[in-house]
Amino acid sequence: MIIKGLEKTVGDFKLYIDELYLEPGKIHGLVGHNGAGKSILLKLMMGIMEPDAGSIDYEGLDIKEVTLMPQTPYLLHTSVYENIVFPLKLRGIQPDETEIDRLLEMAGLSEQKNQYALSLSSGEKQKLSFLRAVVFKPKLILMDETLSNLDPESEAAIIEMIKNTQADQKATWVIVSHQLENKKGLCDEIHHMSKGAMMD
Ligand SMILES: Nc1ncnc2c1ncn2[C@@H]1O[C@H](COP(=O)(O)OP(=O)(O)O)[C@@H](O)[C@H]1O
Ligand SMILES: [Mg+2]
Repeated sequence: MIIKGLEKTVGDFKLYIDELYLEPGKIHGLVGHNGAGKSILLKLMMGIMEPDAGSIDYEGLDIKEVTLMPQTPYLLHTSVYENIVFPLKLRGIQPDETEIDRLLEMAGLSEQKNQYALSLSSGEKQKLSFLRAVVFKPKLILMDETLSNLDPESEAAIIEMIKNTQADQKATWVIVSHQLENKKGLCDEIHHMSKGAMMD
């Protein structure tokens, strides 16, 4: 993804990204303090917010191949299973039940398959949100603070799931965090953001 001259003003906040190149097939960390503009940048990347100026070149990627895991998971008021297959139904794809079971197993949610999604613990909700994000094999995966405010077990589990998923179906990842450390060497590249601009 190639970003050039991207501008967006929201209230008193101004985002301006002169240039940012995200190499395809890599796990990118996007790090910056609270209020740096990370969530706004992700929304622009996802196409749910319109830029005032500038361009995002997805290098041939269809916007339907992009997914965003928002900061707070929004789960459907149905079962764990129905939440996972929802993106497939939206796209008219028949779920591969073996694959769904593999995903549930990977997340340690096999026993919760038919449980009401909103009754899960917060760590389980993030794991479910992750499965729903990757089930349709997106090419660009945007994660907003997914690894923040998690219990250590859930955090480690999601890091493992990112690594597994990447080994299985190569995608480009943008993982946003306000924390500076590169969690367990997860990211191939780290990009720093401050006051609406890139620091690199
Ligand atoms: N809808 C909005 N209206 C006004 N200000 C906003 C809005 N959304 C975000 N902001 C402001 O823009 C700045 C950057 O927000 P955000 O991208 O959410 O930061 P980050 O995700 O890096 O913590 C913040 O100061 C925030 O208060
Ligand atoms: Mg944010």
